Amino acid sequence: MAESIYLPENASKVEKYEVILPQIEALVSGEEDLVANLANISAVLKEAFGFFWVGFYLVKGEQLVLGPFQGPIACTRIAKGKGVCGAAWAEGKTQLVPDVEAFPGHIACSSASKSEIVLPAFKEGHVALVLDIDSDQLNDFDQSDAEKLEKLMMIVEQCL
Ligand code: SME
Repeated sequence: MAESIYLPENASKVEKYEVILPQIEALVSGEEDLVANLANISAVLKEAFGFFWVGFYLVKGEQLVLGPFQGPIACTRIAKGKGVCGAAWAEGKTQLVPDVEAFPGHIACSSASKSEIVLPAFKEGHVALVLDIDSDQLNDFDQSDAEKLEKLMMIVEQCL
């Protein structure tokens, strides 16, 4: 297994995604444990982009439960349909939130969080987990993040 990821200097955000996605695929392909893979994926995203908070919530019964993450401590349980993560679960769709204050029911684990993107991953037709990324800047995510992170979720789905 590689000990570190390769990141070109001065790469644009899209270039970074293009460089890290195959490396993530290689990283998880040799490991069958889900928690180990989600932990390393969180670490790669944090290292590559310096996100304020990045991590996973796993569907457990009627709730999302905090999984592997990088960043400050966070809410441990989220009900279906609640907050941005609960909406991604209930709707089964990416949630791109330029201003968390404007999202009805947003759950503020940290007052420093200003914008957010949440994406679901599916197993056997049902949402199994969500990836949540928070920024301390407003409007920090766009369609290119959604597109590339949806590709990442396809890699995550291979781990499920
Ligand atoms: N803001 C999220 C809660 C999780 S934290 O941001 C880590 C939400 O509204 O679902």
